[in-house]
Amino acid sequence: PFILAIAGGGSTYTPGIVKSLMVRLADFPLAEIRLYDIDSQRQQIIAPVVEKVIRDHSDSIKFTVTSDAEVAFSQANFVFAQMRVGQYKMREQDEKIPLRHGVVGQETCGPGGLAYGLRTILPMVELIDLVERYADNNAWIVNYSNPAAIVAEGVRRLRPQARVLNICDMPVAAMRNIAAILGVDRHQVTVDYFGLNHFGWFTHLYVDGVDRLAEVREHVARFGLLTEDAAATDPQHADPSWVKTWRNIKPIMDHFPDFLPNPYLQYYLMPNQIVEHQDPDYTRANEVMDGREKKLFAAAAEYQQTGILPDAFHVGVHGAFIVDVACSLAFDLRQRHLVIVENRGAIANLPYDAMVEVPAYITAQGPEPVRMGNVPQFHRALLEQQLASEQLLVEATMEGSYEKALQAFTLNRTVPTMQHAKAILDEMIAANQDYWPAL
Ligand code: G6P
Ligand code: MN
Repeated sequence: PFILAIAGGGSTYTPGIVKSLMVRLADFPLAEIRLYDIDSQRQQIIAPVVEKVIRDHSDSIKFTVTSDAEVAFSQANFVFAQMRVGQYKMREQDEKIPLRHGVVGQETCGPGGLAYGLRTILPMVELIDLVERYADNNAWIVNYSNPAAIVAEGVRRLRPQARVLNICDMPVAAMRNIAAILGVDRHQVTVDYFGLNHFGWFTHLYVDGVDRLAEVREHVARFGLLTEDAAATDPQHADPSWVKTWRNIKPIMDHFPDFLPNPYLQYYLMPNQIVEHQDPDYTRANEVMDGREKKLFAAAAEYQQTGILPDAFHVGVHGAFIVDVACSLAFDLRQRHLVIVENRGAIANLPYDAMVEVPAYITAQGPEPVRMGNVPQFHRALLEQQLASEQLLVEATMEGSYEKALQAFTLNRTVPTMQHAKAILDEMIAANQDYWPAL
C-alpha cells in the first residue's frame, strides 16, 4: 500500500479527491494519506471533513495533517499537487485587473494566467525539491496546479529530470460530456487531440473503433457541449457559469470544421463577447468564494457541531482522473490519457521541446506521447503564438525580466495592443508584490 501526500491539502478540491481515492482503494491501495499545506489554519478546517470521508471507507488508513514538509513527504510514494499561490484573493486580482482595461479576466487564460504563472513557478520548484529530498526515490508528483501550461514549461526548464506529470481535468471533463451525448461511458471513448493546455482541439472521437466526431458536432451546434442532465452527472461543471462556457463552444466550432475545440479557446478567439458578459466587480473568483468555498466551510462547521457531514463537495471527473493517472503510473498500466508532456515529435510541426497536451500512454516511467502528426497551418500559428507567450513568461520568471514579461503579455491573443499589455502588467506588478520575483 502507498503513502500519498496531497500538497495544497486545504483546497476545496481535497475532499472530492479523497472520496475518489476511497472508491478506488481496490485499484490503488493506501497505507496513509497526508495533507500538507502552508496555510495550516485553512487546512485545519478541511481536515476533519477529509478524515470523515476516509473513515467512512477504511479504519486502517493512517491520516496525517501537517505543515511540515518532512512529515508530509518522508518515504511518500505519490504526491498529488494542487497549490494555489495567493489563494482565491489573488485569483480575484488576476481576473479584475485585466477587466478594468477591457481585457478578458480569467484564471488561466490571458493576463490573469500569466500573472498566476509568475506566482506559481518558483513555489512549484520548491515543492519539487522538498519532495525529492524526503520522498521515496521512485515517487511521482501528479500535478493539477495551475496555470498548468506555464507550470509545466517552468518545471521543464528548471527541473527537467523531476518525476512530475502535469495534468488538467478539462479534456476529460469534455470527454465526460461527449460520452453523455453519445450515451456511452467516458472510458469507452478514445480520442485524438492536439494543443497546449487550455488551448487545443479534439480531432477524432472513437467509440468501438468508429469515429463519432461528426455526431458530437451536430449535438454541439444545437445544444453546446453538454447534455440536459449534465448537472446530475457532475456538479463541478454544471453551475450556470460552466453551462455558459460549454454552450459558447458553438460559435468557435464553426471556425474549425474538422475538429472540436477546447472550450477555453473562447477566451482567445472571441474575447470581446466574453468581456461584454463579464462583471468587472464580481468575477468567477467571487462566485467560487461565495459558492464552493462557503458551502464547504459551512459543511465543515456543521460536521463539527452535529457529527453529520452534509454532502457539500465535488466528486466527479476531477478526482477520478487523477486517481486513474496515478494507477497507471503505479502499476505500469500503459493507459491512454490526455496529459501535458514534452512534445518529442508528437505534434510534428511544433518544437520538439514544447510542453503540449496530447494523448499519452502512462507507464511506470512516465508518459509516452502518441503521434498526432502535422497540424494545419492555422492551428499551428495559433499554437506557436500562445507557446511563445507562455515560454517568455517562464523566462521572465527565471531572469526577473520586465522586458520578457511585457513581451509575454503583448503576444497573448486576449491582449489587443502593446499599451494594454503594459498598463495591465504594471498594475499586476503592484498587486503581486508579495508573490512575484522582482522584474
Ligand atoms: C477546470 C480547469 C481548471 C480550472 C477550473 C476552474 O477544471 O481544468 O484548470 O482551474 O476549471 O474552475 P472554477 O470552478 O474554479 O472556476
Ligand atoms: Mn485545467
